[in-house]
Amino acid sequence: MDESKRVAIVTGGGSGLGRSICEHLARDHRVGVLDLDGDAAEQVAGELRSAGAEAVSAAVDVSDQSAIADSFAKVRAELGPLGVLVTSAGIGGFTPFEKITLAEWERYLAVNLTGTFLSVQAALPDMVERRWGRIVTISSAAGQVGALRQGHYSASKGGVIAMTKTVALEYARKGITANTLPPFTADTPMLRAAQEAKHVPGAEMMSRIIPAGRVGTGDEIAAVCAFLCSDAASYITGQVVAVNGGAVV
Ligand SMILES: NC(=O)c1ccc[n+]([C@@H]2O[C@H](COP(=O)([O-])OP(=O)(O)OC[C@H]3O[C@@H](n4cnc5c(N)ncnc54)[C@H](O)[C@@H]3O)[C@@H](O)[C@H]2O)c1
Repeated sequence: MDESKRVAIVTGGGSGLGRSICEHLARDHRVGVLDLDGDAAEQVAGELRSAGAEAVSAAVDVSDQSAIADSFAKVRAELGPLGVLVTSAGIGGFTPFEKITLAEWERYLAVNLTGTFLSVQAALPDMVERRWGRIVTISSAAGQVGALRQGHYSASKGGVIAMTKTVALEYARKGITANTLPPFTADTPMLRAAQEAKHVPGAEMMSRIIPAGRVGTGDEIAAVCAFLCSDAASYITGQVVAVNGGAVV
């Protein structure tokens, strides 16, 4: 075990942005890949190990507090105490506001907001003990400016932004930073599914809407995330760091 490398947990690490973030962090961290889809998490962890990194995986539903406790304990036991947490696990979807059922509303809040809350709470004790920590939550432009037919999703992501700012304020004197990345569009399975279902415009139309003239990549978001997780980012906390090609300014 390379003790010089910090331990990072990435929730939602089995796909999309979480997967790209795992790949970036694995260059100088030991990585715990957590996902509802345990096979996808293990696939990513296996690829990281093949590339020479230290990585473990665990299946977890982030809305389940005891499952979070078990999976974090597994990573701690196999890799060591946590220094970095990135919360990318999330669900996205589209329903006209008046048709959002209570069950649907509650599931979005449970996964996207409560799941982030439970993950951050589980990560903090190791960080407080060592007086060093980096927390990056993945929110959404929908949480900044709203989004059509995403009342439930936007509310959950707005909550993530506000919660991240509060964690930043409460833990700044303990050497822990907390920032949020709110993507607008990044080319991932979640975006492609929304495009295929015609809930959002395809890549060509998106390219016309986005000032940078194209959809973003997971790599572009992961690179900024990795910086926010580094020693160099010690004076950045409580910030909404948008990697969005100018879509929301
Ligand atoms: N791709 C975009 O354009 C975009 C835009 C704005 C925000 N986001 C946010 O970025 C994050 C990553 O999204 P993505 O595009 O990579 O999507 P994705 O669907 O490719 O990845 C999300 C991952 O989260 C996992 N997950 C879902 N529910 C879970 C649960 N209850 N417990 C644990 N894991 C769970 C999924 O299995 C999946 O592996 C999400 O929070 C999403 O809301 C993405």
